[in-house]
Amino acid sequence: MGRLVIVSNRVLLPGARSGRAGGLAVALRDALRGRSGIWFGWSGATADVTSAEPRIAQAGPIQYATPDLGASDFELYYNGYCNGTLWPLLHYRLGLLEFRRESLEAYLRVNEIFAEALSSLLRPDDLIWVHDYHLIPLAASLRSRGAANRIGLFLHTPFPPPPVFTTLPRYEILVNALASYDLIGLQTEGDRGNLCRTIAQHRQVELTPEGDVDLGARHLRIRAFPIGIDAAGVRNMAESMSRGPEARRLVQSLGDRQLILGVDRLDYSKGLPQRFEAFERLLVDYPEHRSKVTFMQIAPVSRGEVRQYRELRRELDRRAGRINGKFAEFDWVPLRYLNRSFGRHVLAGFYRHARVALVTPLRDGMNLVAKEWVAAQDAAEPGALVLSRFAGAAYELADALLVNPLDSDAMAEALHRALIMPPEERRERWRAMMRGVAGNTAAAWRDAFLGLLESELAPVLA
Ligand code: ADP
Ligand code: F6P
Repeated sequence: MGRLVIVSNRVLLPGARSGRAGGLAVALRDALRGRSGIWFGWSGATADVTSAEPRIAQAGPIQYATPDLGASDFELYYNGYCNGTLWPLLHYRLGLLEFRRESLEAYLRVNEIFAEALSSLLRPDDLIWVHDYHLIPLAASLRSRGAANRIGLFLHTPFPPPPVFTTLPRYEILVNALASYDLIGLQTEGDRGNLCRTIAQHRQVELTPEGDVDLGARHLRIRAFPIGIDAAGVRNMAESMSRGPEARRLVQSLGDRQLILGVDRLDYSKGLPQRFEAFERLLVDYPEHRSKVTFMQIAPVSRGEVRQYRELRRELDRRAGRINGKFAEFDWVPLRYLNRSFGRHVLAGFYRHARVALVTPLRDGMNLVAKEWVAAQDAAEPGALVLSRFAGAAYELADALLVNPLDSDAMAEALHRALIMPPEERRERWRAMMRGVAGNTAAAWRDAFLGLLESELAPVLA
């Protein structure tokens, strides 16, 4: 077996806290366990210019190769094209999309420089696994430097249907770049269908029902691989950390109130204003819960240099102040809103004490928090999960209380139902969800993707 070369914009360096890393880096750290290879991607630091000479660090069998981004590429590539153009597009938020030609140019340039830096580290039998929307053109840039390796791409975000995707100016550059991969993985069947239709329309080709297509130079396969978590690891961590110092202080501070918990990056895809509104509706429509519940929303600042994210933060500050101003009592604060991150072990302890998890993104590739919360529950006394229908996780967690996050009245009803749900129903729903979460681990996800990437090609139907 050749080495595994993972390429992602965000790299979790050895010894770094995973607190603010987001789902992708946490999943890749789990996926690399027990393998030898390279993890290549942005160092997280800026320099005068984007460097083709990465910083190198070694930890056990993994080499970390992490180039710095030039200050102007940080602005144009990362804040601009990745987070100001592609992120809203892929999350169906056309009203937030900003396009500038120079950002697109920076995006393509950074991918070229990364390909140049990576090429010198590659061996012919390395298996290359690229991650996410930051690096869609990377395979084409590697191929133009002679790489004949098998190269796969996994997209952690949703993929919108063709009429949405093709609003992107010059979208054809990205669709053509996808043709340099051997395998593209998406989180759900819905996303897979959307990408297949986009390729079929743009390239005037027909894909097999499975998602195979011959694109001249290469045979491309497109499949859904819902990402999993290290469920046993989270369960063990939650079990021990539920008695840890932070969890004990949390429980003490709650008294006999029930905890509703939300944990997200501060991102407009996560539906936080709508979630705050739903909590407010709960307190208005079901006043019996006043003074009986506490809603804790943990939301560390993410991509704080991007205007839309700063505006969201201001809006949430306003709403949080309003809710507490309106409903707080001298001995009860309804909403605890924290713009900080916690270690994953601390979070696991919090998950276990949450009677209700509130996970209501407007659109999310998967949402690992939902799965982590399920894995962290006490089998004898699990809580209830209120989950957006528009999170990829809803495909697998059909036994959650599924809601439309734009309907704050329905979310308030679901919250009420979760808070009064009898223990037997909570256990039944949780057991069904846990079966799915335990059966699809991060390692199983990795093996399924890499197994197919390495496998011989199936014959293509004409
Ligand atoms: P995204 O990838 O969009 O950030 P996910 O829910 O898929 O969303 O993944 C988030 C990951 O980051 C999870 O593994 C979660 O434990 C971690 N995480 C999210 N919020 C926090 C936080 N406030 N502190 C620490 N870790 C967090
Ligand atoms: O999981 C989706 C994702 O966009 C990852 O690609 C990314 O690493 C994570 O969220 C956190 O965002 P960022 O890397 O921009 O801080």
